[in-house]
Amino acid sequence: MAPLLEIQDLCAEVEGKSILKGVSLKVEAGQVHALMGPNGSGKSTLSNVLLGHPKYKVTAGRILYQGEDIAGLRTYERARKGMFLAFQYPVAISGVSVANFLRTALKSVRGEAQAVKSFRKLLREKMEMLGTDEKFASRYVNDGFSGGEKKRLEILQMALLAPKFAVLDETDSGLDIDALRIVSEGINKVMGPDKGLLLITHYQRILDYVKPQFVHVLSDGRIARSGGPELPAELERTGYLSREEAPKAAA
Ligand SMILES: Nc1ncnc2c1ncn2[C@@H]1O[C@H](COP(=O)(O)OP(=O)(O)OP(=O)(O)O)[C@@H](O)[C@H]1O
Ligand SMILES: [Mg+2]
Repeated sequence: MAPLLEIQDLCAEVEGKSILKGVSLKVEAGQVHALMGPNGSGKSTLSNVLLGHPKYKVTAGRILYQGEDIAGLRTYERARKGMFLAFQYPVAISGVSVANFLRTALKSVRGEAQAVKSFRKLLREKMEMLGTDEKFASRYVNDGFSGGEKKRLEILQMALLAPKFAVLDETDSGLDIDALRIVSEGINKVMGPDKGLLLITHYQRILDYVKPQFVHVLSDGRIARSGGPELPAELERTGYLSREEAPKAAA
């Protein structure tokens, strides 16, 4: 069977600037992959390219989702196929309530609207799972939300849409210690043997809860290193730079 997601030698540019310079990555169903790497190395660019953000142009390589080349698919079509992205910087949509936003998102992904009553039940269930305040549902999307609340809303969205393949871009940033645990447990509940996860993070902490089998380091648009669950602890000790500069020092 084809892998859930296979990225082959992907190159991409934004505003005419080359950012991804040959990224290859394979995520099988049931796997969690962590993606780390210095600021500006292209992690969010990769997320945007995976979900088909129109500003980001693929210049070479392919993205295969369940064996299908998704190059020609728009973002909503990718979402319908089960792909999901939790943004690093979620945007506010003033005037649109969280409940309406989520119901519309669900309708778009499923192709049909869910009755208000059963949607409310589903929403309540997922909100309880993530320890979300009930008032959250009637507030405007991300409008005046704290950093952590924005990240929780991304995961609430994920829990509702139940994607097959999700990219979580620094979902842990800004979450307090309890929220990190609750949100991580929520992510684990949404995950399953038929699902895949690409978890972008700078810190080991979330990886203690959502355990990756593979960890990659993106550096200047390329995967510079890949390893197992032990890699983040090593990076925490050594940093990215010392490692990269080591060969130069030895030469
Ligand atoms: N829309 C854009 N317009 C212009 N430049 C962009 C855009 N998106 C990304 N870039 C540039 O691409 C490079 C990679 O950015 P990206 O956001 O992918 O990095 P990152 O690895 O996610 O960093 P961080 O860890 O800080 O989130 C940066 O130099 C950034 O300025
Ligand atoms: Mg980023």
